[in-house]
Order: sequence, then structure tokens, then C-alpha cells
Amino acid sequence: MNKEMLYEGKAKKVYKTDAAGEYVVYFKDDATAFNGVKKDTLAEKGILNNSISSILFELLAKEGVESHFIKKLSEREMLVKAVEIVQLEVIVRNISAGSMSKRLGIEEGIVFQEPIFELCYKNDALGDPLINDDHAVAIGLATREEIAQIREQTMKINTLLKEFFKKAGLKLVDFKLEFGRYDGKVILADEISPDTCRLWDIETNEKMDKDRFRRDLGNVMEGYKKVLQRLEEK
Ligand code: C5P
Repeated sequence: MNKEMLYEGKAKKVYKTDAAGEYVVYFKDDATAFNGVKKDTLAEKGILNNSISSILFELLAKEGVESHFIKKLSEREMLVKAVEIVQLEVIVRNISAGSMSKRLGIEEGIVFQEPIFELCYKNDALGDPLINDDHAVAIGLATREEIAQIREQTMKINTLLKEFFKKAGLKLVDFKLEFGRYDGKVILADEISPDTCRLWDIETNEKMDKDRFRRDLGNVMEGYKKVLQRLEEK
């Protein structure tokens, strides 16, 4: 496989392949938080996130959600469709936590009647600011039609992911998705992992996600391993 690196992000690298229309995503062990201010290497994080994302993309595909995922190639590599990433971070919140709790001064753990849909401008230099649909259209990040498609798919994905995680004994508190343009439409891309989701144990509310790293709670990879084990068992 001819491997020319196209892009290196905080947690992944993307390589070109010989096949037109396909990329390889490589999952690194690097962990960052607070827009890169806090950094560390977490042994085997890339392996766990590649496995967890692959399982979730496969489960979503069975339920009719198209994504960039083609197949898992190796421990750390995933073969994907070569999408053009929409520069939006799409966040869904089912339970209050994180930046929303801080910004609005509300405690964590409040279960919302309806999921909250947020858009952020994917821009490290600006710290990924929260924006609305009008901003996204005005600065050319996506068209109204694309945002409508993203919203519809995101709500379906939230319903399905909540169900998958519930069966694995986990509450899906919130998560971030990214989408890409492919073949005239927008499809789910990037990853779905404990780096990008808040997952709490259904009984104890123990955090099983990247908040263990962000908040120095310890045993970060133990949480990720439990998420993978529970998804594999269900
Ligand atoms: O920090 P905040 O509360 O806004 O994060 C909401 C959700 O989006 C969390 O699950 C977090 O892991 C995810 N997120 C992410 N990448 C970012 C920002 C947030 O995966 N750059």
C-alpha cells in the first residue's frame, strides 16, 4: 500500500492509498484536552479507539446509517471512504455535562427531555467556538441542505447509539460527530470512541471516557477497555 500522509490530527493520521476514493486512518496513542493544552500518551488508546469505532460504525451500518467506514485493516488502521470533512463539530447532549454545564452554570447529570443539538466551528486557532446554523451558512462551512441532512442523521445516530450503549450498561451523556462530503451527500466520518463520547456506567455513573484524562481521575485506559469489552459482550 502506498502511504502518503495527507493529514495529521491530535489523535489520528490519514493516509492516501493506491485506490482512488479510499483513505487509511491510523489511530495514535496521543491524548489532548482543552484544545491541546493538556497532552499525554496513553498506551494502546489508538488500538482501543479503532476497535470501538469499528464496532459502532458496523452497528450503525446494520441500521442503515452510512459512514466513511469500509473495514478495520489492523489494530490501529481503518480503511475509509475518502470524504471531504465538513469543518463542523456536531455535538449532541442527552445529559448535562462538560462545557454546557460550565457555560450555563448548571450541574452535571440533568437528563434532558429532548436531545440538544450543537454546532461548533472546527477551528483549533479559535478554540472550536459554538455557532448556529446561520453562522455556519454565512461563513461557508456548509449549505442549509447539508446542515439539515447532518441534523437528521445525527438524531437517528443518537437514538441508535443510546440503545447500543444501554445494552452495554452505559449511559450516552454526550458526544461529538463529524461528517464528510462523499458522492454528492454528507455521511458520518471521523470516529466514535471514549475520546469523543461521555459514557457513564448505568448503575454507578462511573465515568468511562476521556473525562478520566481531562480531570485526572486515573486509570484512563481501564475505562476505555471496559467500554470495548462491554460492546463486544453484548
Ligand atoms: O467539552 P464539551 O462538553 O463541549 O464536549 C461535548 C462532547 O463532545 C464530549 O463528549 C466530548 O468528548 C466531545 N468533544 C470532542 N471533541 C471536541 C470537543 C468535544 O470529541 N473537540
